[in-house]
Amino acid sequence: MRVLALETSCDETAVAVYDSHLGLMGHQVYTQTDLHEVWGGVVPELASRDHVQRLLPMIRATLSSLQLIPSDIDGVAYTAGPGLIGALLVGATVGRSLAYAWGVPAVAVHHLEGHLLAPRLEAQPPPFPYLALLVSGGHTMLVDVQGVGRYRVLGESLDDAAGEAFDKTAKLLGLPYPGGAKLAKLAESGRPDIYRFPRPMLDRPGFDFSFSGLKTAAWLALKAASPSAELHADLARGFEEAMVETLVTKSQRALKATGHRVLVVAGGVGANTRLRHRLTAMATSLGATTAYPRAEFCTDNAAMIALAGHERLVAGEQATLGVLARARWPLSELQPPGQMIVQTP
Ligand code: KG4
Ligand code: ZN
Repeated sequence: MRVLALETSCDETAVAVYDSHLGLMGHQVYTQTDLHEVWGGVVPELASRDHVQRLLPMIRATLSSLQLIPSDIDGVAYTAGPGLIGALLVGATVGRSLAYAWGVPAVAVHHLEGHLLAPRLEAQPPPFPYLALLVSGGHTMLVDVQGVGRYRVLGESLDDAAGEAFDKTAKLLGLPYPGGAKLAKLAESGRPDIYRFPRPMLDRPGFDFSFSGLKTAAWLALKAASPSAELHADLARGFEEAMVETLVTKSQRALKATGHRVLVVAGGVGANTRLRHRLTAMATSLGATTAYPRAEFCTDNAAMIALAGHERLVAGEQATLGVLARARWPLSELQPPGQMIVQTP
């Protein structure tokens, strides 16, 4: 079976083709960063309009680069949530309509299932079960992944997502959106012991996170001092240290609690070098290993949606003719492929 997949849940327009025998045949991602940068964050209406303009040309370009025509496609997968509703509706409407026009099944895919399964795009995927730390601009979660569609959320952020906290703190430091990677760069020249910010919720049991207080602590420290390049670097370092220690400690607790031997790290913040080093050191000390999908599969992409959609289409699952899109969609509602044959809005 050959699946065309579309991803438009936030500010990336992405298209991919996945084949049962060949695996991922190709994928393309267009990121709207330039469009939103002047506003300091994603503007949902601008995101939707840009998806409308780009999606069909990208589908044509992807198919033609792979020398495929519509009759070569056996099913269409589209991200149905969670995400920005207007943006989701673009991919959902186009995906559902193309499948109808081509006479093939469509399947609605959960965006986070895509992230959780992304390491399976690699040649040597980690075996199930594994622990996944999902850290992106929209989500911070620790998930016990038993198999496809078998997910148990152990903990998540009660307020800001990790990437969101990075971006908001970066903005305070005058860095352009999205500032996570730029803050990390600045932190390299900062001293680790000047600012010791709170490690949110480490003193409580469980696996939940809270990052809004950390951002406020950085803001108060910034206001209290006279501005200088050195101060900004020290603040960035202090913030990053607090963030990394919190994520590593909660992941360590979850590895111990589940007994899993593999920790998969997904989402844009997973690109953070300090986080990667500390997570790997922690996992090694427990006799576990870490797996990082390559950068292009960590950030939003349609390859992961194609893989997840393929699993469900081959199990006979398909969406009704109605367009499925949900801004909120709890991961706990998912079931293993084939158990919910007809997806309804
Ligand atoms: O998963 P992702 O590409 O997109 C969505 O959330 O949709 O994650 C993007 C997030 C942004 O908040 C960005 O600032 C953050 O990942 N990020 C980083 C780094 N690279 C990207 N945060 C910290 N350190 C980095 N090196
Ligand atoms: Zn994402």
